[in-house]
Amino acid sequence: MPLEIVRNDITKMTVDAIVNAANCSLLGGGGVDGCIHRAAGKGLLEECRTLGGCETGSAKITGAYNLPCKYVIHTVGPQWQGGSKNEKALLESCYKVSLQIAKDHNCETVAFPLISAGVYGYPKDQALKVAIDIISDFLLENEMKVYIVIFDKTSYKISEKLFADIEEYIDDNYVDEHTDYMRESMRMSMPLPSATIMDASVCESKLSKPRKASKKTAEFDLDAKLKQIDESFSQMLLRKIDEKGMTDAECYKKANIDRKLFSKIRSDVHYKPSKPTAIAFAISLELSLDETEDMLRKAGFALSHSNKFDIIIEYFISNGNYNIFEINEALFAFDQSLLGG
Ligand code: AR6
Repeated sequence: MPLEIVRNDITKMTVDAIVNAANCSLLGGGGVDGCIHRAAGKGLLEECRTLGGCETGSAKITGAYNLPCKYVIHTVGPQWQGGSKNEKALLESCYKVSLQIAKDHNCETVAFPLISAGVYGYPKDQALKVAIDIISDFLLENEMKVYIVIFDKTSYKISEKLFADIEEYIDDNYVDEHTDYMRESMRMSMPLPSATIMDASVCESKLSKPRKASKKTAEFDLDAKLKQIDESFSQMLLRKIDEKGMTDAECYKKANIDRKLFSKIRSDVHYKPSKPTAIAFAISLELSLDETEDMLRKAGFALSHSNKFDIIIEYFISNGNYNIFEINEALFAFDQSLLGG
């Protein structure tokens, strides 16, 4: 996955460069800045003294001393003053300049904290969105692995509205569906079978509403399906890329999958991807829910209403939102595995 959100202390990341949320003096401070200076040792401060400070929105690079990375890129985020003082552009610039510096130093792996989201008071959900937008734009043009490092869960926040919408969707599709089964059993005046504690997937298949299809569509589907009966996941993926008029690179980058994994899938017709990888491709190809399920079946998986991960994916597909980074933000907020390789 070229962009990954992880929970960690950034000073423990074994990457080529970590980014520091510094202040204009570059002479250390609290928050992540304090952690980095403590872990790096005195040499870092001595080098920082030679730099002559740094402007807000810009960045400078130093060695990493006792840290397990090669470089520290010090960037100065804006202090939040209500949003009308150019804060967003300055924060975007922090990410752009830091990524460019990392690229100029041939860094293959870089880790960012959420710049400005602590002492500088930038609203956390907006700070996260800026980070994801700028990093994902950069990754469309560049080969690099970038981590957004979240120190503690409370500093991580997707927008309240999105969180509430997804929660409601999970409630509607998860809780109600299981409750409906109870209601149905009662209506039929039958005691609940002793196997009521049934496998969730069995429960789901009994309860899912069948998708309606006109006779014409059903015939067409059958025909198309018969032709594709022997198609493997890899073959379907390549066919869909062609049908959508995408290049391979466009597809795997949008899926947040690295080139090596894509090449493996491409060259091995029987490759069995993990479920998050298969879904990542479906998202990248902007497949409908039916097509997504088709693609998943090729890899031996299904979408089920008995787990939150699947319902969140369904939520985004049904809403026509195929932004993998936004989906990953939401999955992370609900403690689910992320999409990608
Ligand atoms: N690893 C990863 N993230 C961390 C760590 C850590 N070890 N420690 C804190 N964070 P902040 P700012 C997160 O306040 O808002 C300093 O005094 C933290 O939870 O460090 O840009 C500088 O010298 C938050 O989400 O940076 C400046 O004066 C994020 O890092 C000023 O603070 C950024 O919080 C900069 O303020």
